[in-house]
Amino acid sequence: MNHLPNTPPLEDGVWLPFTAMRGFLEAPMIFERAEGMHYITPDGRRVLDMMAGLWCVNAGHAHPRITAAIREAAGRLDFVSSFRMSHPGAFAFARRLLDAVPGMARAFFSNSGSEAVDTALKIARGYHRARGDAARTKFIGRAKSYHGVGFGGLSVGGIARHKRDFGPLLADVFHMPLPHDPAQRFLRDRPAAGDHWLAGLDDILAVQDPSTVAAIIVEPVTGSGGVYPPPIGYLEALRARCDKHGILLIFDEVITGFGRLGACTAAEALGVWPDIMTLAKGLTNGAVPMGATLVNSRVFDAYMQGPAGAPELMHGYTYSAHPLACAAGMAALDAYQLEGMFEASAAIAKPFAAALLGLQGAPHVIDVRHCGLLAAVELEPRPAAPGVRGAAVADACFADGVLVRAAGDTMVLSPPLVVTAAQVAQTVDAMARALRAIA
Ligand SMILES: Cc1ncc(COP(=O)(O)O)c(C=O)c1O
Repeated sequence: MNHLPNTPPLEDGVWLPFTAMRGFLEAPMIFERAEGMHYITPDGRRVLDMMAGLWCVNAGHAHPRITAAIREAAGRLDFVSSFRMSHPGAFAFARRLLDAVPGMARAFFSNSGSEAVDTALKIARGYHRARGDAARTKFIGRAKSYHGVGFGGLSVGGIARHKRDFGPLLADVFHMPLPHDPAQRFLRDRPAAGDHWLAGLDDILAVQDPSTVAAIIVEPVTGSGGVYPPPIGYLEALRARCDKHGILLIFDEVITGFGRLGACTAAEALGVWPDIMTLAKGLTNGAVPMGATLVNSRVFDAYMQGPAGAPELMHGYTYSAHPLACAAGMAALDAYQLEGMFEASAAIAKPFAAALLGLQGAPHVIDVRHCGLLAAVELEPRPAAPGVRGAAVADACFADGVLVRAAGDTMVLSPPLVVTAAQVAQTVDAMARALRAIA
């Protein structure tokens, strides 16, 4: 039995997501507190958090502005429904958010990235129906993409292992290939432009009548699937295909939002705007669960028809625009903008990439990919034991005081935007030691 100070035995109760429960109980990883760049274990060990929690704590942990805002909001208005009513904080936060994401016109709030994605897919189908084009129901996603765990997001997602146990999923969903050439490794910059990157999409469109496709959804930079940056010109070409065929383009910016690429969104950093954008995670700095689905005016305006007294979108959540989440979101934007965190992210991105690329030549490392403050160090899997080496490296780094995440045999990194060069160096040293020590 596992006992930690002041806690009940770990066998009691909780079933953890995406976790090998039996293995976890053998060696539980438990954090009791967090501040800035660090988690603190029950026995007082400080662990450098190079994952920003789970790609979300972009301003660092327990940011005083955000903590104070949540406390204040909880004492003022604990809850109000968003069904036919609202509160000033919801409108103030939406306005502030849309000012920070200038291509978009309205924000629909939910509680997670998964909900933001399912909302986006529903809005896309409803948009076409509202315009008298109800035959447009198909979705196109992409290999290796992660769009959460709702049946919609799971259907358009491209990670086979996540779907295997839960079929049948949404019908009429197709997946284009990831724009990645495995022969190109340890790239210093984004992959070069090329017409071939969208050949797989063109094949799908050639077979599936494009006038039946509602939306294409992509992460601008593939995140959980292993950090794959978009080749130069790829997103621009995707935008052009969507325009040509009247298909909506959805960017899932749940990871890339709020500073990962040195601007508020990847859309802004890369200069390509979707019709619908999903946000979560850094939206509140992870401090209160919240998702948002932003739409441009073309999408919103299409809905604003029919009897004025009837809801235009039959969709929503009890906790849409929760007052605590709106307060946390507002304070998170304050932290990001008033403390120059997007600029800090842009400034450290190159040294971060250079340091990680220094792992080329370390045992087992077969590729390093990076984009802004996102990186992946891909390891050669052990024969017949996929994921085991990655997990061992993550465990060794944790024992060495650094939290990195193993996605199978790919080590992924997504530090808070306030990470320092010294902390990056500490991380690379810990990873190099772990790679040398592990078979
Ligand atoms: C790109 C992307 N979309 C959606 C999600 C789902 O978010 P959540 O876990 O908040 O439901 C994630 C989570 O990692 C994500 O990375």
